[in-house]
Amino acid sequence: MERLLLNILLLVLLTYLIGLSFCQHPGLSSNGDKTPYKKPNFIVILADDVGWGDLGVNWGLRRDTPNLDKMAMEGMRFVDFHSAASTCSPSRASLLTGRLGLRNGVTHNFAVTSMGGLPLNETTLADVLKKAGYLTAVIGKWHLGHNGPYHPNFRGFDYYFGIPYSHDMGCTDTPGYNLPLCPACPPHSALSSHQKDCYPEIALPLFENLQIIQQPVNLTSLAAMYTEKAIQFIHYASQSNRPFFLYLALSHMHVPLTVTQPLRKLPYQDPYGANLREMDTMVGKIKDKVDGTAKENTLLWFTGDNGPWSEKCEYAGSVGPYTGMWQKERDGSSAKQTTWEGGHRVPTVAYWVGRIPANVTSPVLLSTLDIFPTLVSLANASLPPRRRFDGIDVSGVLFGQSSKGHKTLFHPNSGAAGKYGEIQALRLDQYKAFYLTGGAKACDGSIGQEENHQPPLIFNLQRDMQEQRPLNVKSAEYRAVLPIISKAFGGILEDIATDNVSMADYSHDPAGTPCCNPQHALCRCQLAYLNTSFEKYR
Ligand SMILES: *[C@@H]1O[C@H](CO)[C@@H](O)[C@H](O)[C@H]1NC(C)=O
Ligand SMILES: *[C@@H]1O[C@H](CO)[C@@H](O)[C@H](O)[C@H]1NC(C)=O
Ligand SMILES: *[C@@H]1O[C@H](CO)[C@@H](O)[C@H](O)[C@H]1NC(C)=O
Ligand SMILES: *[C@@H]1O[C@H](CO)[C@@H](O)[C@H](O)[C@H]1NC(C)=O
Ligand SMILES: *[C@@H]1O[C@H](CO)[C@@H](O)[C@H](O)[C@H]1NC(C)=O
Ligand SMILES: *[C@@H]1O[C@H](CO)[C@@H](O)[C@H](O)[C@H]1NC(C)=O
Repeated sequence: MERLLLNILLLVLLTYLIGLSFCQHPGLSSNGDKTPYKKPNFIVILADDVGWGDLGVNWGLRRDTPNLDKMAMEGMRFVDFHSAASTCSPSRASLLTGRLGLRNGVTHNFAVTSMGGLPLNETTLADVLKKAGYLTAVIGKWHLGHNGPYHPNFRGFDYYFGIPYSHDMGCTDTPGYNLPLCPACPPHSALSSHQKDCYPEIALPLFENLQIIQQPVNLTSLAAMYTEKAIQFIHYASQSNRPFFLYLALSHMHVPLTVTQPLRKLPYQDPYGANLREMDTMVGKIKDKVDGTAKENTLLWFTGDNGPWSEKCEYAGSVGPYTGMWQKERDGSSAKQTTWEGGHRVPTVAYWVGRIPANVTSPVLLSTLDIFPTLVSLANASLPPRRRFDGIDVSGVLFGQSSKGHKTLFHPNSGAAGKYGEIQALRLDQYKAFYLTGGAKACDGSIGQEENHQPPLIFNLQRDMQEQRPLNVKSAEYRAVLPIISKAFGGILEDIATDNVSMADYSHDPAGTPCCNPQHALCRCQLAYLNTSFEKYR
């Protein structure tokens, strides 16, 4: 009797276990729908101010990215992929909302003293994924508002570790390479220097969740800390039995460039190259962790927030062949902050073993705006209602099943000339049209004048990737393409005018400055390492 009961019990247990293991290891069948759907993990690595030409496999002038080059061999490399804006905050806001700045309200950068941030009625990618059961983390630079409800922990992220804005927006004891060269934070409150570009009056804070754990942050150890936290998060999350979303917003390749090793020992390598290698090594470590934990079920997507910051001269990256010659012949830079290709064409690689075909170079026209709808679709979640999106679901392109990207892309003003956020250039197939041109500050200090173009300047990128010679307005090619371009331009303005759009609060107040020790004029403090909780803000 007892034995019979035991047998029944064993049978029940066995059935249960088989069922359980089936549920836990469904994977993704190649035919799609036989096995239960397991939500994939997502890692988006966003580099700062990286140039299209910085990736060895893109341009080859430098060979400082062996890990990214290898990832491209094992995944898909995009050569016509664009950031949604050419400067920091708008680019990040668009990545996290799938909407252009004119819709989400973020059209220029937030400051150290900004009270507001990404408007609260905008829904972030992390909000959507968290609701879909994801564990979410942002590690690195936020730059979408740091006060009150704008803090990342209230924008859908369970975990935050990083700096609230760019790492040149506060002094440190480890200042790194920059132009102008910035001094270290004064040890005490005395403010000797008033160098405008160097923020001597406030130390740069490092946050873990809502708490400042270091001020000023030690830039020399920041990359290692980001890597460590990212790896810990991936480890924790892949054991938690929940899907995860990690948004890793690196400080590389933005200035100040960290002093990684004494440069005299590396005569063959410039600071930019050394930092590029450091970034590449970080990406390699993240990929190794993925390969060792959740390889079959993780999409790793590397891209950039905008082009190189040319005014920083030898501390800026390379635009590759996208030199924006028309602008350069008239002064000013044609990279970051501009709508020339060098401002927004960013190196991009996507990797997912078994799903994304290996060693493919994709010429499809895509944008960081597409990350939102694509991840939402792969997570089988829904887009937030009552608003329109500029990004599209490109999972078919990632999986090699489709070559359909954007027919048009719209490039907003990002600070060089014109009104913040306004669409000043657009892409239509191989054509690029400018209604307004302008350069950013160049290494030689020149700034290209703002110029309106009615009718627009139109370049054929297929023949002229340098954007050097616009089409003759009398040519058959110009006359054929102009009506389609005008229609697209009118169309986007109309579409935005009838959308639900948000307004960002760009007000400033010294009280908005992050400060962990108001007793000290620079806010200096140093907390012991806290025990990391990855789910504090669920
Ligand atoms: C910064 O971190 C580096 C590397 O961990 C360490 O060697 C250095 O002493 C630290 N500097 C300061 C000022 O704490
Ligand atoms: C990747 O593709 C390139 C060009 O198509 C080819 O030369 C190379 O051998 C491929 N590499 C691998 C590892 O398949
Ligand atoms: C996707 O979500 C819908 C409801 O939103 C659900 O009916 C469907 O079963 C889900 N599909 C998968 C594959 O989980
Ligand atoms: C804007 O919001 C209103 C009210 O929620 C809604 O009825 C309308 O459909 C929305 N418009 C768009 C373009 O989604
Ligand atoms: C955000 O709020 C403003 C003001 O209430 C509203 O006009 C706008 O439509 C909202 N945006 C979205 C996306 O709902
Ligand atoms: C952190 O964790 C360690 C070991 O788990 C524990 O001894 C310590 O008290 C914790 N510290 C804090 C600040 O919670």
